Amino acid sequence: MWLLLNTLRSPTLMTHMAPSAHIQPSVDSTSVFKSDLFRGKVLFCTGGGSGICRGMTAAMMKHGADAVIVGRKLDRLSQTAKELSEATGRACIPVQADVRQPQALREAAAKAIETFGRIDFVICGAAGNFLAPISGVSENAFRTVIEIDTIGSYNTIKATLPHVRASRGSYIHVSATLHYRATPYQAHVSAAKAGVDALSAVLAVEEGPHGVRSNVIAPGPIDGTEGMDRLRPKDNRSSGLSIPAGRLGDVNDVANATIFLFSDAAAFITGQVLPVDGGAEHLRTQFLPYPQAVLDPASVKGMINTKL
Ligand SMILES: NC(=O)c1ccc[n+]([C@@H]2O[C@H](COP(=O)([O-])OP(=O)(O)OC[C@H]3O[C@@H](n4cnc5c(N)ncnc54)[C@H](OP(=O)(O)O)[C@@H]3O)[C@@H](O)[C@H]2O)c1
Repeated sequence: MWLLLNTLRSPTLMTHMAPSAHIQPSVDSTSVFKSDLFRGKVLFCTGGGSGICRGMTAAMMKHGADAVIVGRKLDRLSQTAKELSEATGRACIPVQADVRQPQALREAAAKAIETFGRIDFVICGAAGNFLAPISGVSENAFRTVIEIDTIGSYNTIKATLPHVRASRGSYIHVSATLHYRATPYQAHVSAAKAGVDALSAVLAVEEGPHGVRSNVIAPGPIDGTEGMDRLRPKDNRSSGLSIPAGRLGDVNDVANATIFLFSDAAAFITGQVLPVDGGAEHLRTQFLPYPQAVLDPASVKGMINTKL
């Protein structure tokens, strides 16, 4: 309700989106799905220490799963694991690993097996992003995003696949909608996420006969996340956006899609990409003024929380 009221009050959203009786606030997964849906199951989630992937992990735990969350910052991971365990009563193990390091991921998977004896579900969510034009992004920065998002997802699949096969489990890859059409300043992430989408589709085809599913969730702009903080105008998150659902996304929206795709209700759904964007992709507008932002980057510097 809070979000709904604020959405309706936002002057920019009022400009771009007429208030509608059909605007639905996001709901908690427990109001829709059974609370013991994933009891006895284990989730392995890269990027689970923060933002969207933390929300996806929290939702899985609310429905009975135990979890292993992976990231580089052990302090934050440990704090998240503690908070999620206290909130849900399920076990959550923090494991420090960089997804660019195959051996570190193999050790993280081994820790999951040592602790819980199985891995049923994997979320490949670790990612990095920033705004930069092709002419300005360094070769090293471009490569780093590919290494974290695309190769990191591949490393995660490699480290977990024997265990996911054993449990006839399922993968969700957290991608984006940026690469469906060209998004200025997002070449690195667009290339990386296109690779993630392709990886998931091939995984679905190769592993389907082994009982493993693989799908992609492509979030649109999700409010209150680090990704959003880095990419959107600081003072008005919704400026320039037209979203048929009438509001920005919420972590709960992605969490609910996660519960559905990992559940048996999605048993016949694999190799698919599910945008969770309130329909925004069909009305895509540039979030920075175009071509002004390209011709004169300094003119938009104040709008965004990044280095151009
Ligand atoms: N926010 C949005 O609106 C939005 C929109 C579309 C797609 N997405 C996607 O949603 C996912 C989550 O994004 P978010 O906005 O919630 O951002 P976030 O909080 O920054 O999440 C990124 C996570 O990835 C981890 N990570 C980064 N590099 C890593 C590495 N090398 N090894 C291991 N872990 C690493 C980070 O933890 P450490 O720093 O501890 O390593 C962090 O927990 C990403 O895949 C992003 O591309 C987000």
